[in-house]
Amino acid sequence: SLGGTVAEPMAKAATEPLLLNAVRGIDVDRPPVWLMRQAGRYMKSYQIICEKYPSFRERSENVDLVVEISLQPWNVFKPDGVILFSDILTPLSGMNIPFDIVKGKGPIIFDPVRTAAQVEEVREFVPEESVPYVGEALTILRKEVDNKAAVLGFVGAPFTLASYVVEGGSSKHFSKIKRLAFSDSKVLHSLLQKFTTSMARYIQYQADNGAQAVQIFDSWATELSPVDFEEFSLPYLKQIVDTVKKTHPELPIILYASGSGGLLERLALTGVDVVSLDWTVDMADGRRRLGPDIAVQGNVDPGVLFGSKDFITDRINDTVRKAGRGKHILNLGHGIVVGTPEENVAHFFEVAKGIRY
Ligand code: CP3
Repeated sequence: SLGGTVAEPMAKAATEPLLLNAVRGIDVDRPPVWLMRQAGRYMKSYQIICEKYPSFRERSENVDLVVEISLQPWNVFKPDGVILFSDILTPLSGMNIPFDIVKGKGPIIFDPVRTAAQVEEVREFVPEESVPYVGEALTILRKEVDNKAAVLGFVGAPFTLASYVVEGGSSKHFSKIKRLAFSDSKVLHSLLQKFTTSMARYIQYQADNGAQAVQIFDSWATELSPVDFEEFSLPYLKQIVDTVKKTHPELPIILYASGSGGLLERLALTGVDVVSLDWTVDMADGRRRLGPDIAVQGNVDPGVLFGSKDFITDRINDTVRKAGRGKHILNLGHGIVVGTPEENVAHFFEVAKGIRY
């Protein structure tokens, strides 16, 4: 018989989701595909749930609703990745930071954290106590999806979480967190450390309960100049990756930052397996700058989904050609935009799944 060293990985690869094989550099015949924010308001079925359950927190903190919403795009489009319906802010209440997500306003942090005394009050996150519904939902999703796609978990990166918590919500100029960073950096560092420890633990919890890969969203890290990214984001991302790799060496970690063209090489220094590119970088340039060891995800402009079907097809083919064979997860460069026609999303998946290298 074939030695275990050769036969076992091959047998494993045959039953593993395409997305995991692609990230691990196993030869695949097409790129796996999923879309950021693939569950949500562009879908009629989601809007119906929103009418019945108007509170975002209820929709994202009830096991049955989380499972149902996560499976809505799975049932219609059969993507190669099924992302948990949740939010990067979901852990905050368990960390003693009350918040809400309000229609038309976005995230609200009721008591923004800006002083050493307030940071002191922030509790480290214990997922099994604070968000047991996340573990339960992931376990159910794994059974439902049954390795026909990869179940994806996610967390917010320390700097991006801190930006919401310090600003009090979404921000345009990030002046409050920058004031803290540039005048009282010790306070910000201790907040960032709490998020780091908590999010590493949250990733481990998600993996233990069924997540087969995780994405770290550092959406607003690119508000920092490279020198400040190196102080306020990079070391914490590295720490999360190092901590998780110790316990879950096989778990692929994807890193996304919006507008990351100026930071690509630095994103690779975090040690993640996949860097997710937005559409302001040409895929071929991104691939070249990141080097052959790292996988890439992306990077079709979400606005392309408002174009004609032929246009969408052309842009998919262009991205796939520029990414080259293997180590590429086809995706958008940011989340699907509200108002995107569902039939264009269906077309995107149909074309993507018909590609052969
Ligand atoms: O991708 C998915 O389908 C999984 C679900 C998901 C949501 N938020 C659901 C959601 C994911 C991965 C997120 C991540 C998230 N949340 C990020 C990082 C990604 C990015 O966009 O850069 C950020 C910055 C947040 C914080 C947040 N939550 C914002 C800025 C908003 C939008 C507020 C608004 O009203 O538009 C939310 C709310 C939110 N989270 C929605 C969804 C589908 C929209 C509100 C709703 O459906 O009622």
